[in-house]
Amino acid sequence: MSRTNDFKNITVSLGNNLYYSSQDAVVAFGDSLQLLEKLPDHSVSLILTDPPYHSTKKNNIINDKAFSTDDDFISWMESYALQWKRVLRPNGSIFMFCSSCMESKLDNMLSKYFNILSHIVWTKPNDPGYDGWKGKMKKEALRQWYPHSERIIFMESASDGNLNRSYFGNYLRRLRNKCNLSGKDMTEMIGAYGKINHGGAVSNWESGRNIPSREQYASICDALRRSGIKEDLLTYEDVIRPFEVNANVEFTDVWNFPSVKPYKGKHPAEKPVNMLEHCINCTTFPGDIVLDCFAGSGSTILASLKTHRLGIGIEIDEGWCSSIKKNIENMIKAGDEYEDIQVLMKRQTVIKEPSLFNFEN
Ligand SMILES: C[S@@+](CC[C@H](N)C(=O)[O-])C[C@H]1O[C@@H](n2cnc3c(N)ncnc32)[C@H](O)[C@@H]1O
Repeated sequence: MSRTNDFKNITVSLGNNLYYSSQDAVVAFGDSLQLLEKLPDHSVSLILTDPPYHSTKKNNIINDKAFSTDDDFISWMESYALQWKRVLRPNGSIFMFCSSCMESKLDNMLSKYFNILSHIVWTKPNDPGYDGWKGKMKKEALRQWYPHSERIIFMESASDGNLNRSYFGNYLRRLRNKCNLSGKDMTEMIGAYGKINHGGAVSNWESGRNIPSREQYASICDALRRSGIKEDLLTYEDVIRPFEVNANVEFTDVWNFPSVKPYKGKHPAEKPVNMLEHCINCTTFPGDIVLDCFAGSGSTILASLKTHRLGIGIEIDEGWCSSIKKNIENMIKAGDEYEDIQVLMKRQTVIKEPSLFNFEN
């Protein structure tokens, strides 16, 4: 199923709850747990979401104070995890924000369904004037280290309980075994020798340590076909979980992004759009669908549009739905950083890597 068809089906499934919809952004007003149940299976490439933290007990965030025990909160989150696993594409990723004190309980629950790949520490190097600036509090009164960071749990769907084995790793191993090729045979056929071990790149791909490049994947497909595989092989976009970092972006699990400076109308838990753009750029292909079940101010949708992805946000507070709509409209009016993805797709012939825009399976 193509991304654009999935996006249309998701829009239709949200029916009466649609608050705003365009060719590349959808906002739904309602309880995301109920609405998630309506979404088609395996239709979303990235879940980038920031639930109420439960530990911060903010009066102005719905469901931040709704659970009397941690266990109640975790079991609510577990209902989400089950739905996330169902709606996520097999090569998709999830980022979930949480507080440092709830992380271990969430992690324990989430690891039943997902391979937890990273625990990112967002350090918020805030200057004076930002919320939560560390200069403000009375240090002598502290009874623990001041929590000046938040956590982001990064994960992928677990296929067999093996922490490292990826969807692609399993796919490659199944097809390689089907045509009786050893890892070494296949390495030789595609010329992808490792520097140290002779199973080379193939064993690293199957064990989930590395991701093949687009060119390497083309060679893999060629080798499989030459070895007798007749079935249609999945496109790169449908089998590889993208992960692209480099020395110019945050590539470790400690991130420095200043939090959002207070302004009139700011959401009490608003996340910086540039950090969300980083999440999206590193883990999705252009044109992929990004879902936020706790949309707040709509920062995830704005980041999706800026990075030429399709954004879906669900928010239970109608006031915030209205802000999201305004924020999207303002961004479109400003125009300079945002280009309609449909326009971009029409211009795909002038884009360096046209295959990135090949949404058809
Ligand atoms: C931590 S805030 C998210 C802030 C957002 N990341 C931003 O940058 O603006 C959580 C949001 O989830 C919303 N929310 C809480 N329970 C919800 C539910 N069951 N369904 C949908 N939204 C919910 C709250 O109204 C709140 O706006």
